[in-house]
Amino acid sequence: MMDGAVPHPVLADGFLADVVEGLSRPRKTLPSKYFYDARGSALFDAICDLEEYYPTRTETALLARRAAGIAAFAGPDAALVELGSGSSVKVRLLLDALDRPALYVPVDISREHLLAAAARLAGDYPALTVVPVAADYVQGFALPCSLVPERTLAFFPGSTIGNFTPDEAAAFLARLGRRLGRGSRLIIGVDLKKRRDILEAAYDDAQGVTAAFNLNLLARINRELGGTFELDGFRHRAFYDEALGRIEMHLESVRPQTATAGGHRFQFERGETIHTEISCKYTVSEFQNLAAGAGWRALEAWTDDAQLFSIHALIFAG
Ligand code: AVJ
Repeated sequence: MMDGAVPHPVLADGFLADVVEGLSRPRKTLPSKYFYDARGSALFDAICDLEEYYPTRTETALLARRAAGIAAFAGPDAALVELGSGSSVKVRLLLDALDRPALYVPVDISREHLLAAAARLAGDYPALTVVPVAADYVQGFALPCSLVPERTLAFFPGSTIGNFTPDEAAAFLARLGRRLGRGSRLIIGVDLKKRRDILEAAYDDAQGVTAAFNLNLLARINRELGGTFELDGFRHRAFYDEALGRIEMHLESVRPQTATAGGHRFQFERGETIHTEISCKYTVSEFQNLAAGAGWRALEAWTDDAQLFSIHALIFAG
């Protein structure tokens, strides 16, 4: 190795390939799943504590209020499979309410975060078998073979389903149902359509935590792919597209510039953006219709009094 040269750890894990692919399009994009490295996961936890970001506290309160109903829906001896488990905070409300939960399978893309959270949880629930799965749950992932469909409860909180387009969400739910089997159950958190000002504040907070979260994508490219993005050359943008019923987040280039990553070169005009995330919002019936098209029958839908957020209980019948 050359003296002083730091090798770029260009891992064959798809990050570089996805960056190059996304930034080579006429309308540049980066996949939102790459937000969640250690730094991004910590920033996301900070977002969840923001006054403007209502989804986390609203969903948590709703889970607490509806825990008995959810436990009845799941039945005894359930295996709980959580998609995108993050810090595994909300799932404790379910574990405390469920009748003899047998197994907890947290699935998350952020490996260190996953293992730390799983270890904490296993310590707090000694009777529970915890089997963490470090995987991108959008791709195929391995599940313990002991799962019985009728006793499997999938848990997909946070309105992460909103990161898919409606078509992608339906395809994802259909695949999930086929994987878990007929008779499996799903508790899923879905953010509701609401006033633009509430939505836009939630994705562009006064303290700039969401801006830092968005910009961390470029910082991560610099860290992991030896990228040369100048972070002060981009600014955070978030707006609600009412026709599409979704928040879009972008990183806007404030000047003409070029940046490189892994030996590839990308040019930006002033005002050009990198589209980094969508967060789709649904009414209760819109989401029930989407789920029905994917084979999931709606049993219940709970909302908070201010109609900010919804939790759906669904059974796979497809
Ligand atoms: C965890 C994907 C649901 O879309 O609200 C928060 C991510 N992005 N602030 C969301 C997010 C900006 C969050 N999800």
